[in-house]
Amino acid sequence: MSTTTTQAPLGNPAIALPPTGTVTLKINGVERQLEIAPWTSLLDALREYLDLTGTKKGCDHGQCGACTVLVDGKRINSCLTLAVMKEGAEITTIEGLGTEENLHPLQQAFVDHDAFQCGYCTPGQICSAVGMLTEGKAKTTAEIRELMSGNLCRCGAYTNIVSAIEEVLNQPR
Ligand code: FES
Ligand code: FES
Repeated sequence: MSTTTTQAPLGNPAIALPPTGTVTLKINGVERQLEIAPWTSLLDALREYLDLTGTKKGCDHGQCGACTVLVDGKRINSCLTLAVMKEGAEITTIEGLGTEENLHPLQQAFVDHDAFQCGYCTPGQICSAVGMLTEGKAKTTAEIRELMSGNLCRCGAYTNIVSAIEEVLNQPR
């Protein structure tokens, strides 16, 4: 049986990959340990290593908001964040917001207002809306639109998304 050996080209010594390391992340109230390369984004850690695929990868460049999650209650683009930077933080993904039997008020409002079509942007929209309402800056429809402008929807469901958020904003708390 013949074997082949692949060698690095002359003058280009093979590059040794840095070792992986253990990262402990607290996600939706549960501590999870991962063995990952130091450059792994939080988005890839969630989707590829923890099977939390509710968080979506759209652009992977911080431009679409599909990957929005909450870190210590603040909305962030998980594609722009390294997982190792979030050790010790409270990370909440769409899977941690509500359950099928007990939806988060924003999840319920999105259903009631038909605020999605393909649904790809929806987890990011909902996580972003939760963070925005916590920020407490949105008081009007125009402000909701402005403060949610980082979350793109290719289906153009914006009118119903804003109606859903507005309903929760105006609910007595
Ligand atoms: S995937 Fe992160 S902003 Fe688009
Ligand atoms: S519902 Fe399809 S991208 Fe927003």
